[in-house]
Amino acid sequence: MSYPQITEYHEAVQHPAQAFIDPDLKQGTVAENNLGLPLVMSGGFALTYAVTTPRRKCAVRCFHREIPAIQQKYDSISKKLRSLTNGFFVDFDFQQSGISVRQQVLPIVRMDWVDGDTLGVWLDKHFDDPRALEKARTDFAAIARLFEREGIAHGDIQNGNVMLTNGDIKLIDYDGMFVPGMRPGNGSETGHKHFQHPDRRVSSFGPGMDRFSFIALDLSLKAVIEDRSLYPKFREGGETIIFKANDFADPQNSAVFRRLLAMPKLKEQARNFAAICEAPLAAVPTLEEFLAGYNIPAAKTPIKPSSAPETKLRATAYIAAYPVVDALNFSAALQRVGDRVELIGRIVEVKPGSRKRGKGPAKHYVFINFGSWRGNIVKISIWSDGLAKLKERPSNAWIGRWVSVTGLMDVPYESKRHGYKHLSITVQEDGQIQQLDEREAGVRLASISTAPPPRDHGLPGADRSGTAAAEPPFAANAKPKDVRLRGRGIARKRTSRATAQEAARSPQRLLARIPRWMWVVGTIIVLVMLHRMY
Ligand SMILES: Nc1ncnc2c1ncn2[C@@H]1O[C@H](COP(=O)(O)OP(=O)(O)O)[C@@H](O)[C@H]1O
Ligand SMILES: [Mg+2]
Repeated sequence: MSYPQITEYHEAVQHPAQAFIDPDLKQGTVAENNLGLPLVMSGGFALTYAVTTPRRKCAVRCFHREIPAIQQKYDSISKKLRSLTNGFFVDFDFQQSGISVRQQVLPIVRMDWVDGDTLGVWLDKHFDDPRALEKARTDFAAIARLFEREGIAHGDIQNGNVMLTNGDIKLIDYDGMFVPGMRPGNGSETGHKHFQHPDRRVSSFGPGMDRFSFIALDLSLKAVIEDRSLYPKFREGGETIIFKANDFADPQNSAVFRRLLAMPKLKEQARNFAAICEAPLAAVPTLEEFLAGYNIPAAKTPIKPSSAPETKLRATAYIAAYPVVDALNFSAALQRVGDRVELIGRIVEVKPGSRKRGKGPAKHYVFINFGSWRGNIVKISIWSDGLAKLKERPSNAWIGRWVSVTGLMDVPYESKRHGYKHLSITVQEDGQIQQLDEREAGVRLASISTAPPPRDHGLPGADRSGTAAAEPPFAANAKPKDVRLRGRGIARKRTSRATAQEAARSPQRLLARIPRWMWVVGTIIVLVMLHRMY
C-alpha cells in the first residue's frame, strides 16, 4: 500500500468532518500555526496532529510509512496494555479505517492528549531539582521492573516518547512495542540512537530491547543529580539527557564518560556502562542487575583517564540520531519533507513578523533564515506559542551563529507572488536550537556524505512508503487558505553572503566552484612553463 505524503495529510486534517471516520473526531479542530497550517509533530513512521473535539483533546497519529501487520500488532498491544493497571500508559484506540485521504481510507491511532511535557522539556525545567529527578529514577525503575515481569518492551524509550504530567510518567508512541505472543526479531524500527546500544537492529525486537535505554536513563539522571552542570553541557538540543550515540560507540573517546569516571559516586557505574556499550547487545543486563552490579559484561578495553583536551577526544565520525541536512542545500532538504531531521547551518537573517487572523490580536513570529528570504531557502519558524517559551528572543545578534535544530521538515511554503519557496522546521520549545562551534558544525556536516539516501531508512517497505524524493510536495496544493508572507522583491538564487559562507566551509566546494575552463587554461600555462624550463 502506498501511504499519503505529509501535504495530503495536512490537506485532509483541515477538514475533520470529511477526513475522519470517528464521529467524535469529525467534530474536532486541528491545532494550527500562525499561518493557519496544521501543526504537525514527530515524523518517524507517523505524523501526529493535536485534535480538540467537544469531548476531549487527542493526539491523532497518521502513518506515512508502512508498519507491517500494523492492525494485528496494535490489537495485541492494546489487549496487553488493558490488562495492566499501572498508569504508565495512555488510553488509545487503533482505527483501521480512521482517515480518508484522497479516496483512500487509512489507519490512525487516536490517543488521549497528555497535558504535560515530554521528558526533554521537563528536564529543561527540572534538571536542577534533585528530588524531582530522584522520583523520575524511581518511576523508571518501576517501569523497567514491570516490563521484565510482563515480558513487554516499548522499543523506543527516549525524551520524545516519555511524558511527565504533574511529575508522573506516561509513555506514548506504541508503534514499536513488543508484547508476549508477538514473534521476536520481527521489528520495524530501531529507536532513537542516543538511547540505544550501538548493535540495536530491527531484528533486536523482543522483550529486553529497552534494557539499554533504562540503564542510560538511570545513569544520566543520577549523574545530573550529582552534577547539574552536565545537563546544559550535554543535552544535545533536547535530544538526549547526557549521552549520545557517539559516546556508546566509542566510550574511550567520550567527553561525558570521562566526566563520569572522574566522579567518585559515578565511577564504577560509568565503567560498567562503558563495558555494556562495548559488549554484544545480548549481554545487556536488566536495570536491576546493573544497579546491583550483577551480570556486567567484562570490559573489553578499560577506559583510561586521559589528559587530552576534550576537543581532541573524537575519534569516530558523527553519529546522528536523524538524517543530517545542510541548511544551504535546499534540494536535499526538499527530499526530506515529512521526515524528522537534524538541520545544521549558519544563521543569515532573523526576520520577525506578525499576522492577524480572525478577531484576536496580531500574533508575532520569527523566521531564522539560512539564506536571503527572497530565494528558495531553508529556515527555522518560531510561531507565537514557541516564542512565548524562548528565554532569549532571536535577534540580529544571532546572525553568524552555527546552529543545529532537530525537527520535522515541514511542507514548503510557496509564495507565487515573490516566486520563492521556503522549507522550515518549527521550533516549539526553548533549547531546541543548539548552538555549535564551526568545527563541530563541520564534523556533523561531513557525516552527510556517508548517510543513507532519503526515504530509505533501512526498513522493510520504507522504499515503497513515500515518493517525496521523486515528487516533491508543495504547500500550494496543501493549503486551501491563501496565506502570504510579508516581504517584497523577486526570487534570487542565493545571497552572496550565503555563497561565501558555503565556500568558506568546505575547500572541496570551493574547488568545485572553479569553472572547468579555468582548470584547462591553468593546465596549459603550467605545461608551457615546464616546456620552457627544460
Ligand atoms: N498523547 C499525546 N499527548 C501529548 N503529546 C503527544 C501525544 N502523542 C504525541 N505527542 C507529542 O507529539 C510528539 C511525537 O509523537 P509520537 O507519537 O512520539 O510520534 P513519532 O512516532 O513520530 O515519534 C511527542 O514527542 C509529543 O510531543
Ligand atoms: Mg515518538
